[in-house]
Amino acid sequence: MIAPELSLRRRIARRLPAPLKILIKQVRYTVLPKGPGLPRPRNATNEYIVKTPSAENAISLFAGEWSSKLPGFESITGPTDLYDDHRVTWFNELAPFKDKTVLELGPLEAGHTRQMSQLGAKKVTAVEANSRAYLKCLIAKEIYGIERAEFLLGSFDKFLEDTPQDMRWDSIFACGVLYHSQDPLHLLDLISQHTDRVFIWTHFYDRAALKKSPDFSRRFSSETEYEVRGFKTTYYKQHYNANLFSKGFTGGVGRTSYWVTRDAIVGFLKHVGFSRIELGSVAPNHKNGPCFSLAAFR
Ligand SMILES: C[S@@+](CC[C@H](N)C(=O)[O-])C[C@H]1O[C@@H](n2cnc3c(N)ncnc32)[C@H](O)[C@@H]1O
Repeated sequence: MIAPELSLRRRIARRLPAPLKILIKQVRYTVLPKGPGLPRPRNATNEYIVKTPSAENAISLFAGEWSSKLPGFESITGPTDLYDDHRVTWFNELAPFKDKTVLELGPLEAGHTRQMSQLGAKKVTAVEANSRAYLKCLIAKEIYGIERAEFLLGSFDKFLEDTPQDMRWDSIFACGVLYHSQDPLHLLDLISQHTDRVFIWTHFYDRAALKKSPDFSRRFSSETEYEVRGFKTTYYKQHYNANLFSKGFTGGVGRTSYWVTRDAIVGFLKHVGFSRIELGSVAPNHKNGPCFSLAAFR
């Protein structure tokens, strides 16, 4: 019976006077074995980096958590080319970023932010809810000197809900976020209230394609009929399951999210007034589920 013993120890420890608690910590720190590979008791000095200052030191704070391949640091960062992404260039051809304001939803590690800044965006406001991703964005901003970009820590849904409708951006860039949403059509509705030009890349629900994957029944559960602004569709509940425990998790704010079909996304955007829809690349057999990009204009 380990649990009662631990709780008794904790109960006793709580009653000890503060100076005695500090003394015990100091003694434990002194007598516990030290050396490479051995767990070190945490104390304030663990947070110090005493090597020569470098970008690598900052990147290593999130070792094993980078998804993006950071230019110049490929050997210590992730595999994905998010700093040189054809989706950003594709949208730029249709709706140039130059001298335009952009609201970016979920910047993750600032790769797209940097690309939009390099393409001359007047200002990129990037809203990121994951505090570790947010800190990675700040590290990237510092390393690359990303200009005219600001990173805000918090939920983009709340940000859009709380922003007055007369506050508008020339473009809203929503790459990799819709399928992580708790309410995707509401998110599209919020986006539509703040811009006339939107980029979306997202996975979408296609039962036949998704069913080919062996984890389909663990990943998708209930279906709910849903209506936003008089537009009816079905929400498909998606579970992150073990991904919630992965290092550098890149998903949404909940343990589940809702997916919708491609027709629902395109149909809803038309419903709220985006008369021109350009479809970009479609990947029906992507390993994480079918996905596509679109640019929508009023
Ligand atoms: C799959 S990643 C996509 C990152 C990047 N935009 C891309 O396309 O590669 C989703 C990002 O959105 C962030 N995110 C998800 N839901 C959010 C929310 N409600 N508010 C703010 N950020 C959110 C995640 O933390 C993550 O950084």
